[in-house]
Amino acid sequence: MPLTRTADLIRPGAAVAAFNVITVEHAEAIAAGAEAAGRPAVLQLSENAVKFHGGRLTPIASAAAAVARASSAPLALHLDHVESIDLLHAAAAHDFSSVMYDASKLPYAENVKATAEAARWAHARGLWLEAELGRIGGKPGDAHTPGVRTDPVEAVAFVADTGIDALAVAVGSAHAMTSRTAALDHTLITALRDAVPVPLVLHGSSGVPDPELRRAVASGIAKVNVGTALNTAYTGAVRAFLEAHPSTVDPRRYLAPAREAMAGAVERFLGVVGGRGAT
Ligand code: G3H
Ligand code: ZN
Repeated sequence: MPLTRTADLIRPGAAVAAFNVITVEHAEAIAAGAEAAGRPAVLQLSENAVKFHGGRLTPIASAAAAVARASSAPLALHLDHVESIDLLHAAAAHDFSSVMYDASKLPYAENVKATAEAARWAHARGLWLEAELGRIGGKPGDAHTPGVRTDPVEAVAFVADTGIDALAVAVGSAHAMTSRTAALDHTLITALRDAVPVPLVLHGSSGVPDPELRRAVASGIAKVNVGTALNTAYTGAVRAFLEAHPSTVDPRRYLAPAREAMAGAVERFLGVVGGRGAT
């Protein structure tokens, strides 16, 4: 089916899950998991994934879009954690309906200036723009910064001054956690939801236990970003297969069960966070 737009998957009282794509198998697994769950999802490519592909956006973005179009599930394409202006500008020439522009490393005033400019650029091209306020932490080269939180008063000013469509908030999660031990600040999520006029996005959701995730969605999180948990499932299956079959050289032998394990993880997350069609 044709690609869905990220903005059309944002629904009050439910969350859409957005899953990181690194390889074509990731895209196939996300599509299969969404089909199995009977729910929509977002396929997102991060700037780091584009760097992994030698800085070339077109091959992996085209492949992810083709996989999404071939699926019977409603799927949207999002460009994630973009820091490079050149990459932001490249989004318009591809099939993305949304971009997260990440200037959260900058001091507040510079973050506002850069994000407002990115939002103006995106809106002129019909793109939905997400931005981050309050360092979520845990990306490669980053320290985990569990103490940093998004301040609701600052968040309201940030949204007003930038014109963004969605806000990534620091509420207790951190990127790249391989244990599901993050404790979210639900009082803060509720305060942000009540104060901020745009949908809230939870990053680093791999490290958040299921009950915490359900509560976060009930408290007002509208988009849940998941990456590491898919890689844990995928790599675990590769490792198990190769341990059991050490002489295997054909990658299809170990990538097929790995892709299946990843699809299972996607289906499971979709069951936890809901989204359109959730029961
Ligand atoms: O933007 C991507 C997500 O925040 C993924 O985070 O890999 O910790 O699940 P995660
Ligand atoms: Zn993130």
